[in-house]
Amino acid sequence: MSDQRDIDLRAAINAISDVVQNRPRPIRNFDQIYMKAGDMVLQSELVARWADGKSLAFIGDGDAISVCVAYLHKRGILSYGPSEIAVFDFDERVCSAVTRFADKEQLGGLRSELYNCLDRFTSAPRFDSFYTNPPWGASNRGESVKVFVQRGMEATGYKGEGMVVMADDEELEWPRHVIANVQGFVVDSGYLVHKMMPQLHEYHLDDAPNLRSCNMIIRALPTERPLAPSAAISEPKRLAHFYGRDNPPKVRYVREKKWLEYGKAHDDEYSFEPWG
Ligand SMILES: C[S@@+](CC[C@H](N)C(=O)[O-])C[C@H]1O[C@@H](n2cnc3c(N)ncnc32)[C@H](O)[C@@H]1O
Repeated sequence: MSDQRDIDLRAAINAISDVVQNRPRPIRNFDQIYMKAGDMVLQSELVARWADGKSLAFIGDGDAISVCVAYLHKRGILSYGPSEIAVFDFDERVCSAVTRFADKEQLGGLRSELYNCLDRFTSAPRFDSFYTNPPWGASNRGESVKVFVQRGMEATGYKGEGMVVMADDEELEWPRHVIANVQGFVVDSGYLVHKMMPQLHEYHLDDAPNLRSCNMIIRALPTERPLAPSAAISEPKRLAHFYGRDNPPKVRYVREKKWLEYGKAHDDEYSFEPWG
């Protein structure tokens, strides 16, 4: 990966602002916690450079880094970026936001697919790289991170590279356990940890506003081995604390209620108090 290049910062921030305006509101119960806008600019630039010319699968993407990367490239704000991006997410609102933006801005290489990562991965393992910012596994020592990473590995046929975003905080112990367990998992899966980029991103998270995350870039070892077929994940041990303590997955898909004017205030958000 080459060094960061100069970009037109105003154009980049305004482009990210277009993407943020199009995003659905986060549902905290499923760990949808959005990255702050400045960090989205830097992360998108990094991902575009890392995956330049590659096909890239996102396993979950409420942040909409996928959309930012495709849009910055299409607008010429970045001269580099992936050749193709697919987003796999169980929230239909996230998938529709990707499709809506791709249609409006004619981002031909960007698409989305409704998919719950507890189901087996049925798409062909044809991607060059994967990206995931999963539920961070604070209450299960990273089991939920491993599930998303496993699907990323399946999407790439256990080849190429992956970028995994995880909690990373000097003052807390649990993120260190999670990072260590996930690193063990990726090594056991035939990868090496190629790069750690500590404490890079901040989030809109009321109860832990200072909690940051890191990027971990992993690279498949050049060994040929038979691929186990993808299977559904149902072991209670892996699921009991998936979205936090005693909060296992109970929802297969989040379905979207259609709104005509996306990004505008809904009628049920306010009332009018007339003069007099
Ligand atoms: C869990 S959040 C992690 C925080 C991240 N900053 C975000 O909000 O995108 C990442 C994405 O994973 C998706 N997600 C959560 N559970 C999922 C599941 N079981 N299968 C597929 N996607 C899931 C969410 O809809 C969200 O878009």
